[in-house]
Amino acid sequence: MSDVSRRTAIGTVALGVAAAASPAVTSAQAAAAATPRAPAFAGGHQPKPLRFDPVKLDGLSDKLIRSHWENNYQGSVRTLNTIEGKLASAMSEPDFPPAVYGGLKREELHRTGSVILHELYFDQLGGNGRPAGRIHEALARDYGSFATWEAEFRRTAMSLAGGSGWTILAWNRATRSLHNYWAWDHTNSPVSGEPLLVLDMYEHAYHMDYGTAAANYIDAFMRNLDWGVVEARYSALTRDPKAMSGS
Ligand SMILES: [Fe+2]
Repeated sequence: MSDVSRRTAIGTVALGVAAAASPAVTSAQAAAAATPRAPAFAGGHQPKPLRFDPVKLDGLSDKLIRSHWENNYQGSVRTLNTIEGKLASAMSEPDFPPAVYGGLKREELHRTGSVILHELYFDQLGGNGRPAGRIHEALARDYGSFATWEAEFRRTAMSLAGGSGWTILAWNRATRSLHNYWAWDHTNSPVSGEPLLVLDMYEHAYHMDYGTAAANYIDAFMRNLDWGVVEARYSALTRDPKAMSGS
């Protein structure tokens, strides 16, 4: 979450949100609104810029990438900030309905996943699609061949075509293995799985360029992957030899 977010711009954005959460603002709420919010509710998430020039991608249009980044990703950043403000406000109300609080917590989980996954997604684009390094060797070892890994990754992605979700290559701390996971929304990341490579299979990620031809979108995604970024994520997680034992 560090990359995402606690770029602590904190506080003032949220004060208005907290005060506006209920038409009848109580004294407790007013006091809460006047107090700088704790980091957990700060609502200070800031969007991360693209690290590549979208016009230079091969087969993913500038219009598609900018729409995805501005509307879907940044929309989740804004919503997450709003939700944190509403949670802070709700905590100042002793009788706030638990079921309503649960709805806010569900949305907080959903938006947190969206922000993190979209940042991983955009950060790994802008490359030439050619795998290399330890991650290439590890995938070839764990799947029998790199081609087998890629075929399974693509098949997992196609199982989500026409709907929504993510395909996630993760390093799993519990099983100490590399694995492709199926995730039908932003909240389905595997337990103990550290994402290395994420493929957005929500229709908003490709429909503008490819309509329903999801396989062509996956081809374009793979052509633009920066495997150096994937390698860096993998190396950061497995630098400790003990983490690799049993893999
Ligand atoms: Fe997306």
